[in-house]
Amino acid sequence: MVQTAQRDSAPRSMRPVAVAIGLLILIVLAFVARRLSVDVPNVSAGTTPDDPFSVRYVEHPWRAYLHIAPGVVYLLGAPFQLSRRFRTRHYTIHRRMGRVLLSCALLSGTFALVFGIPFAWGGGLEASATVVFGAWFVACLVLAFRAIRGDNVPQHRRWMIRAFAVGVGIGTIRIWVGIFEGIEQTRSGGTTPATPDHTMFGVAFWLAFTMHVLIGEWWLRRTPALDG
Ligand code: HEM
Repeated sequence: MVQTAQRDSAPRSMRPVAVAIGLLILIVLAFVARRLSVDVPNVSAGTTPDDPFSVRYVEHPWRAYLHIAPGVVYLLGAPFQLSRRFRTRHYTIHRRMGRVLLSCALLSGTFALVFGIPFAWGGGLEASATVVFGAWFVACLVLAFRAIRGDNVPQHRRWMIRAFAVGVGIGTIRIWVGIFEGIEQTRSGGTTPATPDHTMFGVAFWLAFTMHVLIGEWWLRRTPALDG
C-alpha cells in the first residue's frame, strides 16, 4: 500500500526536482561559456588575463579542461540515464551511453582533484571540500559500476543518484557565491567585486556539496519504490 502510494506520487514530485536540475545545469553551462570566452582567446594568443581568478585556468588549461569538458558531457547525459522512462525505452542506449558517461565522470572527478587541490581559489577550505566531495563523487561512480557488474540494479541506481547529486552541486556553488557577493555588495554599498572573495568561495563549496549530498539521501528515501 505504502509502496503504491510512493510509486503514484513519484512522477508529480519529480517535476520540481527536474526543473531544479535543469536550472542548475543551465547555470553550469553559463559559467562554462564565461570560462571559454576568457580562456580561449588568452590561451591561443599566449596572453595572461587581467583577473587573477582566470589566470589559473589559462596557465593550466589541460588540467582545467580535462575537468570541465568531460564534466559537461556527464552533466548533460546523466539526466537521461537517471530517467526511468528513458532507461526502460532505450535500454541498449542506456548501457552504451553509460560507459561513455561513467568514463567522463571519472576523468572529470580525477581532474577536479588534480586542478582543484593545488590551484584552489578558496584556499584550504576549497581544497579540503574538493578532497572530500571529489573522492565521494569518484567512490559513488566506482560503487555504481561494481553494482551493475554484479547485476544489482537497485544499488547501481542508488550510487548513480549519489554521484549525480554531487556533480550537479557545482551549479549550487555558483548560487552561493552569487548570494555572498550580493550580501557583500549591499553591506559595502559598492559594486560587484571583479573576483570572488577567497574564503567565501571555499565556504560556498562546503555549503553546496553538503546540501547536495543530503538532498541526494533525502531523494533516495523518498523514492525507494523506484528501485530496480
Ligand atoms: C560533474 C560535473 C562538473 C562540471 C560540469 C564542472 C564544471 C566546472 C567548471 C565550469 C569550473 C570553472 C568554474 C568557474 O570558472 O567559475 C569548475 C571548477 C572546479 N570544479 Fe568542477 N565541475 C564538475 C564537477 C566537480 C566535482 C564533482 C568537483 C569536486 C569536488 C569539482 C571541483 C572543482 C574545482 C575544485 C574547481 C576549481 C574552482 C576554482 O578554484 O577556480 N567539480 N568545474
